[in-house]
Amino acid sequence: MSSQAVRLVVLVSGSGTNLQALLDAVADETYGARVVAVGADRDGIEGLARAERAGVPTFVERLADHPTREEWDRALAERIAGHRPDLVVCAGFMKILGAPTLQAFPVVNTHPALLPSFPGAHGVRDALAYGVRVTGCTVMLADAGVDTGPIIAQESVPVLEGDDEASLHERIKTVERTLLVDTVGRMAREGWTVTGRIVRFGRPGG
Ligand code: GRF
Repeated sequence: MSSQAVRLVVLVSGSGTNLQALLDAVADETYGARVVAVGADRDGIEGLARAERAGVPTFVERLADHPTREEWDRALAERIAGHRPDLVVCAGFMKILGAPTLQAFPVVNTHPALLPSFPGAHGVRDALAYGVRVTGCTVMLADAGVDTGPIIAQESVPVLEGDDEASLHERIKTVERTLLVDTVGRMAREGWTVTGRIVRFGRPGG
Protein backbone atom coordinates (compact mmCIF):
# COMPACT_ATOMS: atom_id res chain seq x y z
CA MET A 1 0.00 0.00 0.00
CA SER A 2 1.40 3.38 -0.96
CA SER A 3 2.59 5.60 1.89
CA GLN A 4 1.33 8.51 -0.24
CA ALA A 5 -2.26 7.32 0.14
CA VAL A 6 -4.57 9.87 1.72
CA ARG A 7 -5.38 8.89 5.32
CA LEU A 8 -9.12 8.51 5.99
CA VAL A 9 -10.81 8.34 9.36
CA VAL A 10 -14.39 7.14 8.80
CA LEU A 11 -17.13 7.86 11.36
CA VAL A 12 -20.19 5.58 11.61
CA SER A 13 -23.30 5.12 13.75
CA GLY A 14 -25.01 2.13 12.16
CA SER A 15 -24.80 -0.72 9.73
CA GLY A 16 -21.78 0.70 7.93
CA THR A 17 -22.53 -0.34 4.37
CA ASN A 18 -21.04 2.94 3.12
CA LEU A 19 -17.97 2.22 5.23
CA GLN A 20 -17.81 -1.27 3.71
CA ALA A 21 -17.84 0.24 0.22
CA LEU A 22 -14.87 2.40 1.21
CA LEU A 23 -13.06 -0.56 2.81
CA ASP A 24 -13.56 -2.52 -0.41
CA ALA A 25 -12.37 0.41 -2.56
CA VAL A 26 -9.16 1.04 -0.61
CA ALA A 27 -8.10 -2.57 -1.17
CA ASP A 28 -7.05 -1.35 -4.63
CA GLU A 29 -3.98 0.79 -4.08
CA THR A 30 -4.68 2.90 -7.15
CA TYR A 31 -7.69 4.26 -5.24
CA GLY A 32 -5.36 6.73 -3.55
CA ALA A 33 -6.64 6.51 0.03
CA ARG A 34 -6.61 4.14 2.96
CA VAL A 35 -8.83 3.85 6.03
CA VAL A 36 -6.56 4.37 9.05
CA ALA A 37 -9.33 4.21 11.68
CA VAL A 38 -13.08 3.94 12.14
CA GLY A 39 -14.80 5.88 14.92
CA ALA A 40 -18.31 5.67 16.30
CA ASP A 41 -20.58 7.41 18.79
CA ARG A 42 -21.99 4.11 20.06
CA ASP A 43 -20.93 0.53 20.77
CA GLY A 44 -22.18 -2.71 19.32
CA ILE A 45 -22.86 -1.58 15.76
CA GLU A 46 -22.16 -3.49 12.59
CA GLY A 47 -20.07 -0.59 11.30
CA LEU A 48 -17.47 -1.26 14.01
CA ALA A 49 -17.59 -5.00 13.34
CA ARG A 50 -16.88 -4.34 9.67
CA ALA A 51 -13.81 -2.31 10.59
CA GLU A 52 -12.59 -5.01 12.97
CA ARG A 53 -13.00 -7.69 10.30
CA ALA A 54 -10.94 -5.53 7.95
CA GLY A 55 -8.20 -5.15 10.59
CA VAL A 56 -8.77 -1.39 10.90
CA PRO A 57 -8.37 0.22 14.36
CA THR A 58 -11.61 1.47 15.93
CA PHE A 59 -12.61 3.89 18.65
CA VAL A 60 -15.89 4.83 20.34
CA GLU A 61 -16.65 8.20 21.90
CA ARG A 62 -20.14 8.22 23.45
CA LEU A 63 -21.85 11.54 24.13
CA ALA A 64 -23.32 10.11 27.34
CA ASP A 65 -19.83 9.54 28.76
CA HIS A 66 -19.08 13.29 28.76
CA PRO A 67 -20.56 15.97 31.02
CA THR A 68 -21.13 18.38 28.14
CA ARG A 69 -21.44 18.31 24.37
CA GLU A 70 -18.37 20.57 24.16
CA GLU A 71 -16.27 18.01 26.03
CA TRP A 72 -17.50 15.25 23.77
CA ASP A 73 -16.61 17.42 20.76
CA ARG A 74 -13.08 17.89 22.10
CA ALA A 75 -12.64 14.22 23.01
CA LEU A 76 -13.84 13.08 19.60
CA ALA A 77 -11.52 15.52 17.82
CA GLU A 78 -8.58 14.22 19.86
CA ARG A 79 -9.40 10.61 19.05
CA ILE A 80 -9.62 11.49 15.37
CA ALA A 81 -6.41 13.53 15.46
CA GLY A 82 -4.55 10.59 17.00
CA HIS A 83 -4.87 8.85 13.63
CA ARG A 84 -3.53 11.86 11.67
CA PRO A 85 -6.22 11.88 8.97
CA ASP A 86 -6.00 13.95 5.82
CA LEU A 87 -9.76 13.62 5.44
CA VAL A 88 -12.59 12.59 7.77
CA VAL A 89 -15.59 10.82 6.22
CA CYS A 90 -18.96 10.71 8.00
CA ALA A 91 -20.57 7.56 6.60
CA GLY A 92 -23.92 7.44 8.35
CA PHE A 93 -22.57 9.22 11.45
CA MET A 94 -25.70 10.51 13.18
CA LYS A 95 -24.19 13.42 15.14
CA ILE A 96 -23.35 16.96 14.11
CA LEU A 97 -19.61 17.50 14.45
CA GLY A 98 -18.41 20.41 16.56
CA ALA A 99 -15.78 23.03 15.89
CA PRO A 100 -12.81 21.04 17.26
CA THR A 101 -13.14 18.48 14.47
CA LEU A 102 -14.43 20.82 11.75
CA GLN A 103 -11.60 23.31 12.28
CA ALA A 104 -8.91 20.64 12.33
CA PHE A 105 -9.81 18.49 9.31
CA PRO A 106 -11.77 18.59 6.08
CA VAL A 107 -14.89 16.48 6.62
CA VAL A 108 -17.04 14.80 3.98
CA ASN A 109 -20.61 13.80 4.76
CA THR A 110 -23.19 11.79 2.86
CA HIS A 111 -26.95 12.34 3.00
CA PRO A 112 -29.80 10.27 1.51
CA ALA A 113 -31.64 13.15 -0.20
CA LEU A 114 -31.00 15.81 -2.82
CA LEU A 115 -29.92 18.74 -0.67
CA PRO A 116 -30.92 21.43 0.05
CA SER A 117 -34.24 19.53 0.14
CA PHE A 118 -34.90 17.27 3.10
CA PRO A 119 -31.88 17.78 5.39
CA GLY A 120 -31.71 16.13 8.81
CA ALA A 121 -32.05 12.68 10.26
CA HIS A 122 -35.16 11.70 8.26
CA GLY A 123 -34.33 12.76 4.71
CA VAL A 124 -35.83 9.65 3.11
CA ARG A 125 -39.05 9.73 5.15
CA ASP A 126 -39.49 13.47 4.60
CA ALA A 127 -39.00 13.22 0.83
CA LEU A 128 -41.51 10.36 0.64
CA ALA A 129 -44.07 12.23 2.77
CA TYR A 130 -43.67 15.35 0.61
CA GLY A 131 -44.56 13.32 -2.46
CA VAL A 132 -41.47 13.99 -4.59
CA ARG A 133 -41.07 11.76 -7.64
CA VAL A 134 -37.28 12.05 -7.66
CA THR A 135 -34.95 12.06 -4.69
CA GLY A 136 -31.37 10.87 -4.33
CA CYS A 137 -28.20 11.39 -2.37
CA THR A 138 -25.68 14.14 -1.75
CA VAL A 139 -22.01 14.05 -0.79
CA MET A 140 -20.94 17.35 0.76
CA LEU A 141 -18.30 19.02 2.85
CA ALA A 142 -19.52 19.21 6.43
CA ASP A 143 -19.94 22.55 8.13
CA ALA A 144 -21.50 23.54 11.45
CA GLY A 145 -25.06 23.27 10.12
CA VAL A 146 -27.31 20.30 9.50
CA ASP A 147 -26.49 19.15 5.95
CA THR A 148 -25.70 22.72 4.85
CA GLY A 149 -22.09 22.38 3.65
CA PRO A 150 -20.90 22.90 0.06
CA ILE A 151 -22.15 20.14 -2.24
CA ILE A 152 -19.52 17.99 -3.94
CA ALA A 153 -21.64 15.43 -5.81
CA GLN A 154 -25.24 14.32 -6.20
CA GLU A 155 -27.14 11.49 -7.87
CA SER A 156 -30.87 11.16 -8.40
CA VAL A 157 -33.04 8.15 -7.55
CA PRO A 158 -36.68 7.84 -8.69
CA VAL A 159 -39.43 7.26 -6.13
CA LEU A 160 -41.42 4.23 -7.27
CA GLU A 161 -45.10 3.47 -6.82
CA GLY A 162 -45.47 1.56 -3.55
CA ASP A 163 -42.14 2.65 -2.09
CA ASP A 164 -41.92 2.83 1.68
CA GLU A 165 -39.09 4.42 3.64
CA ALA A 166 -37.12 1.17 3.85
CA SER A 167 -37.37 0.24 0.15
CA LEU A 168 -36.55 3.76 -1.00
CA HIS A 169 -33.64 4.09 1.42
CA GLU A 170 -32.18 0.78 0.23
CA ARG A 171 -32.34 1.94 -3.40
CA ILE A 172 -30.78 5.28 -2.48
CA LYS A 173 -28.00 3.55 -0.52
CA THR A 174 -27.03 1.47 -3.55
CA VAL A 175 -26.40 4.71 -5.45
CA GLU A 176 -25.00 6.51 -2.39
CA ARG A 177 -22.25 3.95 -1.79
CA THR A 178 -20.93 4.33 -5.34
CA LEU A 179 -21.19 8.12 -5.19
CA LEU A 180 -19.30 8.26 -1.87
CA VAL A 181 -16.54 5.94 -3.08
CA ASP A 182 -16.16 7.82 -6.38
CA THR A 183 -16.16 11.23 -4.67
CA VAL A 184 -13.71 10.38 -1.88
CA GLY A 185 -11.43 8.69 -4.42
CA ARG A 186 -11.38 11.76 -6.65
CA MET A 187 -10.71 14.01 -3.67
CA ALA A 188 -7.82 11.78 -2.64
CA ARG A 189 -6.27 11.56 -6.10
CA GLU A 190 -7.02 15.01 -7.48
CA GLY A 191 -7.43 17.27 -4.45
CA TRP A 192 -10.17 19.90 -4.36
CA THR A 193 -10.82 23.60 -3.96
CA VAL A 194 -13.75 25.44 -2.45
CA THR A 195 -14.79 28.89 -3.67
CA GLY A 196 -17.81 30.08 -1.74
CA ARG A 197 -20.20 27.15 -2.07
CA ILE A 198 -18.58 25.76 -5.22
CA VAL A 199 -16.39 22.68 -4.86
CA ARG A 200 -14.11 21.70 -7.74
CA PHE A 201 -11.77 18.76 -8.06
CA GLY A 202 -8.14 19.58 -8.74
CA ARG A 203 -5.40 21.29 -6.77
CA PRO A 204 -5.28 25.07 -6.38
CA GLY A 205 -3.64 26.57 -9.46
CA GLY A 206 -3.60 23.11 -11.06
C1 GRF B 1 -26.94 6.43 4.73
O1 GRF B 1 -28.04 6.52 3.87
C2 GRF B 1 -26.53 7.76 5.26
O2 GRF B 1 -26.57 8.78 4.32
C3 GRF B 1 -27.58 7.98 6.31
O3 GRF B 1 -27.65 6.72 6.95
C4 GRF B 1 -27.31 5.71 6.03
C5 GRF B 1 -26.17 4.94 6.60
O4 GRF B 1 -26.10 3.67 6.05
N1 GRF B 1 -27.28 9.07 7.17
P1 GRF B 1 -24.88 2.68 6.37
O5 GRF B 1 -24.67 2.70 7.89
O6 GRF B 1 -23.67 3.19 5.64
O7 GRF B 1 -25.34 1.36 5.88
